[in-house]
This record gives sequence, C-alpha cells and structure tokens, in this order.
Amino acid sequence: MTQDYRITLLPGDGIGPEIMAVTVDILNAIAPRYNLHFTFQEALIGGAAIDAVGNPLPTETLETCRKSDAVLLAAIGGYKWDSLPRELRPETGLLGLRAGLELFANLRPAQILPQLIDASSLKREVVEGVDIMVVRELTGGIYFGQPKGIFTTEAGEKRGVNTMAYRESEIDRIGRVAFETAQKRDRRLCSVDKANVLEVSQLWRDRMIALSAEYPDVELTHLYVDNAAMQLVRSPKQFDTIVTGNLFGDILSDIAAMLTGSIGMLPSASLGASGPGVFEPVHGSAPDIAGQDKANPLAQVLSAAMLLRYGLNQPDPASQIEAAVLQVLEAGYRTTDIQSPGTTVLGCQAMGQALLNALDAAA
Ligand code: IPM
Ligand code: MG
Repeated sequence: MTQDYRITLLPGDGIGPEIMAVTVDILNAIAPRYNLHFTFQEALIGGAAIDAVGNPLPTETLETCRKSDAVLLAAIGGYKWDSLPRELRPETGLLGLRAGLELFANLRPAQILPQLIDASSLKREVVEGVDIMVVRELTGGIYFGQPKGIFTTEAGEKRGVNTMAYRESEIDRIGRVAFETAQKRDRRLCSVDKANVLEVSQLWRDRMIALSAEYPDVELTHLYVDNAAMQLVRSPKQFDTIVTGNLFGDILSDIAAMLTGSIGMLPSASLGASGPGVFEPVHGSAPDIAGQDKANPLAQVLSAAMLLRYGLNQPDPASQIEAAVLQVLEAGYRTTDIQSPGTTVLGCQAMGQALLNALDAAA
C-alpha cells in the first residue's frame, strides 16, 4: 500500500526556489521505490510573502504547515527587505514559524565528507573525521526573552534591550533531546554556556548536571562559549554532540558548518514535542547568486533526507538520498562553493540531474 504524506514547501527567497525545485524532483524520483507518495503544497514565507501579502508569515502558511506531515523550507531574506521595520522582516517570519510550531530542538549535523576535505579552510589533519551534532535550543533564550525593544530613557536617550532567559522546563526539554541524541552517537555531550558571567547560564549548567543522572551512559562536559568557539577551530574532533542555547547555537553552528568546507552542504532539522518538523539548510538565501543557477542544492537535498529520517521515520529513502550525494561528489561533481582543482563544476540544475542519474544507477 502506498503511504501518502503531505509536505509543505516553503521556497522563500534568493536561491530558495532553485534549490527547492531540485529537491522536489529528487523526492518525486525516490517516492515510488519505497511505496511513498508526496502531496506537496507550496506556501509563502519571508520576503516573498512580504511582497505578495505584506506579512512575512501569513496565517495561511502557518495553518498549511500545521496540517502537514513535515515542512521543507529553503531560505529567507535578502537586501531588498533589510531596511524594513522588524515586524516586516523576513527573519521575523522564520522566527514566527519556529515559535508557532514550537520547534524547540534544532539539530545541526556537521560531518566532514572525505571527498570535500580539501574544500575546508582548515588543515586536513585537523578536520579529517570530524562528526559533530549541534543541538541548539530554538524557541527561547535571547531571541524571544522579554523585555525586548528599543526604549527611550527619561533622559531622552534610546536604549536597546533583549533578555536572555530560560525556564527550567525549557532547559530540561532541550537537554533530554541532546542526551538522547548523544546516546545514538558517541555518547559524549558537551554543554556550552557562559556560566562564569551569566545567571541564565548557571541555571542551564545546573539543569544539565541534574539531567545527566538520568543518562549515566553519556559523558557530560561543559565549556564556556568563547572557549568552545576556539576549540571548534583548534581541535574539532574532541566534539561529538554539543547542546547550547539559541544565540550560542546560532553562532557555533555556523563555525561547525564551515569546518566542512562549505555551509552550502549542511542540512538541519527543527523538531517540537509533537507535530510537523521543519527541515532546512543551515545556509541563507545567498541573494548575490540568486537566479544564476550557481547555488549548491546539496544542503537542501540533505534536508529532505533529514525530513524522511526524522520527520517521517523513513530511514531507507533517506539513506539512499545521502548515498546519491556522496556518489556525485565521489564522481568529482561540485558546485562553485565547493570546487577544488581537478573537479567538475556544475550549476544547480545540472547538480540535480547528476543526483537523479545517481539514484537511477542505484535502482
Ligand atoms: C539560522 C539563521 C536565523 C537565526 C536567522 C535567519 C533568523 O541565522 O537559522 O541560523 O538566527 O536563527
Ligand atoms: Mg544562523
């Protein structure tokens, strides 16, 4: 019997529509082999939604997402909308989607593929074998804490305020996801905070230590965020699973991503306690190369693999997509962002075709 899934597509801005088109072709190609059928529904988000209906996250978009089994998002944002007031910025749409679907856990894997070692800006011996999972808290911390805003003091001076706050329950639920993630990996969890300065981090650390009693098979360590940033570029192999708050996770996941040579390779999964997850590349909308068929679609394609694995519990087609990605890299195909001497540079669409060929060859 064919299993039908409803998937909401949010192509968004910049290179989003191009990498989404490639990915949908791949999902359609793989579906019949596993008796799956995808019903895709496209919805507006980010700058595209601002232009169409004046709101970066239209109500219909959130409803469509809620009614689906999983959401595949490409990227949002661009110069065009950068000067709009905050409530009309594309980023506000993305944050609203995360909050609206209560996607508190963001999984960002950074794995060095042997084929791409030379694309890394770090030495081969430093990055070879790196395999890190950053578990970032996504709906709390300074991104959402109150009070926030730009206020005027009694003396008439403007004062910008954001608040980094975490409740115990918020720390515990991301902590559990992180410990369980570590259990499926190398059972080493590093919690990153700034407990030497911030009270919110002290509570974070206290809760992680308390939780660790429930996971005696996982080794818990702690690093201050500044040291963690340094260690990530100094000797990244020491890390297995990292758990951290929203802002630190935003920053550290970009560093971890870049170890692999290109942020254009990395997928992510944002999950809640129940309901559909959102799967999206870690990279942004790259407006500078949008519409030129230069984008690297691989992070988007790998996000679709994460959607299958974590969102729909379909690990087999997920593995097949991941294998196809490795195969095209092995064959020497690259987009410009990951090219190195002796490789064949392809555009976005041609890379998509190469992936389809690899899937056909495997059938
Ligand atoms: C990310 C991005 C977003 C974030 C922006 C676009 C709001 O940088 O997903 O890492 O800061 O979370
Ligand atoms: Mg970021």
